[in-house]
Amino acid sequence: MKRIYIASDHGGFNLKSFLAGYLREKGHDVFDLGPSDPASCDYPVKAKAVTDAVLGCEESVGILICGTGLGMSMAANRVRGIRAALCTTEFHAKFARAHNNANVLCMGERVTGPGLAASMADIFLETPFEGGRHLRRITIFN
Ligand code: RB5
Repeated sequence: MKRIYIASDHGGFNLKSFLAGYLREKGHDVFDLGPSDPASCDYPVKAKAVTDAVLGCEESVGILICGTGLGMSMAANRVRGIRAALCTTEFHAKFARAHNNANVLCMGERVTGPGLAASMADIFLETPFEGGRHLRRITIFN
């Protein structure tokens, strides 16, 4: 089972809290890197906390949530070695892993409801990378 590092800004706080509890109940090893309350905060700071943690633990993935998912995915993808995928459908979540070997799942609380978010997280966590031609493609940049 992979370790999960999760964080949000204020715009993603409710969905982050819900997902952390949902994934813990399913038996995952979840580390909530904050925030611990919905006060305004800057999403790149939280993206950095999660990407540092993911790069420091090979058997881990990250989940980052802001209002749209855009800021978190843009910030996380600035970090070499991180492949952050902003997902709005289960199809995205499946192929973010299968073809792109994404190691961070990004979502927007103002876009995606809790039921779909939970389902996307499940799919992201259970789908293996297919490798092969996809490995060549993802290694061109990092
Ligand atoms: C915060 O209002 C909002 O801008 C942020 O959560 C995120 O959507 C940025 O991309």
